Amino acid sequence: MKILGIETSCDETAASVVEMRKDGSFELLSNTVASSMDLHVRYGGVVPEVAARSHIEHMMPVIEKALSEAFSERELRAASHKANLHLDAQSSDDFWSSVDAIAVTEGPGLGGSLLVGIVTARTLALRKNKPLYAVNHVMAHPFAAFITAGLTGFTYPKKAPQFPMLALIVSGGHSQLVLFTSPLEYTLLGKTRDDAVGEAFDKVAKILGLPYPGGPSISKKALEGNPKAYQLPRAKLNNKYDFSFSGLKTAVLRTAQAEIGEDYSFPSTQLAERLSEAQKADIAASFQHNAIETLVDKTVQAYKEFSPASVVVAGGVAANTELRRQMAEKLPLTPIYPDIKLCTDNGAMVAALGCFIKQQDIPPADPYTLDISPSLSM
Ligand code: KG4
Ligand code: ZN
Repeated sequence: MKILGIETSCDETAASVVEMRKDGSFELLSNTVASSMDLHVRYGGVVPEVAARSHIEHMMPVIEKALSEAFSERELRAASHKANLHLDAQSSDDFWSSVDAIAVTEGPGLGGSLLVGIVTARTLALRKNKPLYAVNHVMAHPFAAFITAGLTGFTYPKKAPQFPMLALIVSGGHSQLVLFTSPLEYTLLGKTRDDAVGEAFDKVAKILGLPYPGGPSISKKALEGNPKAYQLPRAKLNNKYDFSFSGLKTAVLRTAQAEIGEDYSFPSTQLAERLSEAQKADIAASFQHNAIETLVDKTVQAYKEFSPASVVVAGGVAANTELRRQMAEKLPLTPIYPDIKLCTDNGAMVAALGCFIKQQDIPPADPYTLDISPSLSM
């Protein structure tokens, strides 16, 4: 089964073809991503109108590239087994005959961005006569970990996750801890009450005058700092698996104000120029240590309570080296991380989840009426 996955929930226009083999294993046949991040850097965050316009420009070229990468290479590989076989350039119609279905992100995400992916997928489903599957973006993230072979240039998990699977999904838009008992059956153990963890990294980076996106720049700065320099608070929540990062972000702001001898009314936009590089490094390291410890401790707690067969960490924050270090130190089993290119938003995770949906014979979506769900939750 080969599915084209389309993802446009935020600033990445992405398409990918994934094959689910008869033995249930997954192969990555193509993975194409056009990011509009460069356009957002100067605003310090994603500008929805700019992202939507960029999706319109990139959507069809990205899909065409994903199809040609998936199927022309594949044909070439097959042909190499047969000597003297001349291979003509294939048309995109030939590629479409190899696609069994289309999966597309319906939400959550930015309305204008989602709309481009949904309308494109609906049009192609009708035009090419393919079943169409709508996918929850957050739920899709850990499914990138099921892809264990395919395109070169990716590091694949040695073994696909097993169920029950505990998934920590952490990115700029989401922080969730989910227990999957099977591919489509799950319990949402916890979610953030306010900011997503990646969003907290982005906001703290802004306070410290570090470039957007904040995750990589905080991590880099933290290398020079002392993670124990400042005592920052941990949110106490009724549900022990929920997260809250906005209090931590405010504590960082108050710490930075106190460090330069100002009170809470001092503007956050003027702090960076008054802080020394050493102070910034200590704040970055203390914040990162605290935020990551929260993620890791809750994952370890859930692991002990539910004894999952596998733990998957997915989303942009899975790139964080401190997270990987603490997981290795505290979790009794090694978590599965998709390749970093499949941790950030991509079409492959959407296609992989689409394969499971199709495999379970769930009726496809109606291509005439499928709508976006910007605030879809799990
Ligand atoms: O999954 P992703 O690409 O997009 C969303 O769906 O949000 O995640 C982007 C988020 C950003 O907030 C970014 O700051 C964070 O992931 N991030 C990191 C790191 N690399 C990216 N956070 C912490 N450490 C990192 N190394
Ligand atoms: Zn995401």
